[in-house]
Amino acid sequence: MLVNMRDLLADAQEGNYAVGSFSIANMEMVLGVLKAAKELNAPVILQIAEVRLKQSPLELIGPLMVAAAENADIPVAVHFDHGKTFEKISQALDLGFTSVMFDGSHLPLEENIAQTKKVIAAAREYGADVEAEIGCVGGSEDGSQDIAINCTKPEDAVRFESETGVDALAVAIGNAHGNYKQTPKLRFDILEEIDKSTDVPLVLHGGTGITPDDFVRCSHTGIKKINIATATFDMVENTVCRCYNENSIKGYYDLQAAEVEGAYQNAKKHILIFGTENKA
Ligand code: 13P
Repeated sequence: MLVNMRDLLADAQEGNYAVGSFSIANMEMVLGVLKAAKELNAPVILQIAEVRLKQSPLELIGPLMVAAAENADIPVAVHFDHGKTFEKISQALDLGFTSVMFDGSHLPLEENIAQTKKVIAAAREYGADVEAEIGCVGGSEDGSQDIAINCTKPEDAVRFESETGVDALAVAIGNAHGNYKQTPKLRFDILEEIDKSTDVPLVLHGGTGITPDDFVRCSHTGIKKINIATATFDMVENTVCRCYNENSIKGYYDLQAAEVEGAYQNAKKHILIFGTENKA
């Protein structure tokens, strides 16, 4: 069933786990993620980022995501990731997304707060939730930019929460989008301070390449939503390559099944690490 992200994250705060938010690019990835969530009886979030709309147009992929959530037996929130423009954020809300991110992390804090409040006002008209970001997560969602990591200041998180009332807050603690060149050293000292001084569910971007131990530690230190993108795309591609090498793809529908399988395996692995099994 299609649900609000806020409710999934409130349950995660109560139960001391994190919910996986999986980026998808096509129907096969949606099917794979939902197959894993159903099998493990786990709540899940489906998301697509604004920079990815050039490959998967919002007016096509959006209704597919919403319909998939509505038809699922487990709770599914549909989220617009890294919204940059009011135009696309509004389109996502019109299409029935239950949550949108406004990414004002590159703006001065004042400006980020002001713009986030505008997005919250728009989202509330639809009963939808809003995620924002402060500090700067490294890399970029489509790998086109090498943005430097700028860790979130705990005092900024406190101010941001009290001035905006945002539903979820993405923090930068040494994490980055895309594949890490070396295993990241997350700043748990900063995360602990933010967690202690705020109530808002925190979001970890750049999930690909973070170790299982660090995921678990994050999920016990205020992180309630974990974004996974590159790992899904890599696993789908690798599964297809392996199946071709093993000669098990004999035609288009075998190719399609291999894509679903890759997305399924990746989602399953992460749901188990995040502790979301049987939390639907
Ligand atoms: P990765 O591509 O590193 O998994 O990051 C995903 C993400 O944070 C999407 O917003």
